[in-house]
Amino acid sequence: MNLEKKTKKELIDLVTSLQKRLSVQEHTKLHVTSEKDLYKILAYSSQVGCYIMQDGQFQFINSHFLDYTGYPEKKLLKMSPPSLILPEDRRRTAKNAIMMLKGQRFSPYEFRIVTKDGRIKWIMETAISITFKERRAILGNSMDITERKEAGRRLEELEALESSILDAIPQAVVGLHERRINFANHAVKMIFGWHREELIGKSIRLIYRNEEEADKIGEIFYKKLEHQRTYETEFPCRHKDGREMLCRMKASRIGEKLREKRVVVTYEDITQEKKAQEELERSREELRNLSIHLQSVREEECARVARKIHDELGQSLTALQMDLSWLLNRVPSGSKAIREKTQSMSGLVDATIESVHNITTELRPSLLDDLGLPAAIEWQAADFQKRSGIRCQAKIQCVKGAFDKQLATAVFRIFQETLTNIARHAKATLCKVTLTETEKELCLDVTDNGIGITQWQVDSPRSFGMIGMRERAHLWCGNVQVQNIKPSGTTVRVLIPLQ
Ligand SMILES: Nc1ncnc2c1ncn2[C@@H]1O[C@H](COP(=O)(O)OP(=O)(O)OP(=O)(O)O)[C@@H](O)[C@H]1O
Ligand SMILES: [Mg+2]
Repeated sequence: MNLEKKTKKELIDLVTSLQKRLSVQEHTKLHVTSEKDLYKILAYSSQVGCYIMQDGQFQFINSHFLDYTGYPEKKLLKMSPPSLILPEDRRRTAKNAIMMLKGQRFSPYEFRIVTKDGRIKWIMETAISITFKERRAILGNSMDITERKEAGRRLEELEALESSILDAIPQAVVGLHERRINFANHAVKMIFGWHREELIGKSIRLIYRNEEEADKIGEIFYKKLEHQRTYETEFPCRHKDGREMLCRMKASRIGEKLREKRVVVTYEDITQEKKAQEELERSREELRNLSIHLQSVREEECARVARKIHDELGQSLTALQMDLSWLLNRVPSGSKAIREKTQSMSGLVDATIESVHNITTELRPSLLDDLGLPAAIEWQAADFQKRSGIRCQAKIQCVKGAFDKQLATAVFRIFQETLTNIARHAKATLCKVTLTETEKELCLDVTDNGIGITQWQVDSPRSFGMIGMRERAHLWCGNVQVQNIKPSGTTVRVLIPLQ
């Protein structure tokens, strides 16, 4: 353009038109730049992953999309988009995307991707067809739903676990809402004969013997569960076939407070167990009674034998002794040998009288009958010291000292067994005995300073002495405790309640 040949007006017009064009261009440029920025800002600030795909390649990827794939932008732009998807999900995902692009599907589809570090993530996506740089392209919007999926999966697993636990429980488990059954496990069939489907929606009264009892147990449970989380009791129920049964029931309220009578109750059929328990209790009672009977028969027998020995043998021996004295007085003074023989016979008879006395005392300590338990214990302790050489100190603290004859015999026999054990096993030099009687109980303590005892020796089923002591105490609702003491020795404590 030759400007020198232009007139002044022509030059002014040219400058004006140039200015106009420049300003339009400037304006357009500014406008476009800000719109582009806006899209970029939108794409990058979005909490959704966005991408544009064209000719089988990513053309644009926002930061969120980059974040959950873990790949850098440059690498992702070169990658084939389907390679991000877990191989087994690829076909289904492509099919879903195509359906959505064709307008045959409207809801988002889900698939799994493999991130750069090999983790698997769940993605939810929508795809629409757009024009990008004047050509057809796909705009994808996606979300990372891995956590939601995981939570859902965990919940499903938990629910499955819960129901398998409930079904594995041998007790019937029933969920109640306002006394109606809204849940029951498989075991209801085994316990009550009802299929769980038959029970759901029905009143819980169905499994009780009658309406009154159903109301009564309801009242008991709801009253208790107001203040405590669980409550256990035994209550009669009814099987579907009409048979009565006894159940152990445990109810727990659902939640912190008892709302709308929402509770879970477990039922265990204890009819047979209860019967067996009663049977056992009865036979134990019979055994106990038999044992009491045998003990008293034995004591009576001993007393009878002791009496017989004392009366018959004792009297004959005394007569023999008197005859020997008579004989001794009449032996001629020159017959030294006959005198000596008679004297030795008299000594022998004396010793036999002493033996008979000891035997009868052992069979039935007459002291027990004559003076009572405290004196008999004192006498037995002194006698034990004399015979065994083990020092034996007895301390008696009895208020009345008058006990039932059979009880006194039982305690005395236990005492004799402890002393025999000390003499046989303890290797003791000292033994302390206390007999204490209070309003409530009678307590016999026998402590030695010997080698001590092991728990096995106390509990062994072969320790018949120990078993006998416990049995005798048990007959009087008492007990025997045998323990080691420090520094060494054993203590045996017999406690008999006196009320
Ligand atoms: N005072 C004690 N000191 C140390 N060991 C003891 C004492 N008393 C009992 N024992 C131990 O406990 C065991 C069980 O005692 P238990 O009286 O039941 O049986 P036993 O005396 O051996 O036989 P039995 O009494 O039937 O004739 C004894 O064998 C002994 O080892
Ligand atoms: Mg013994």
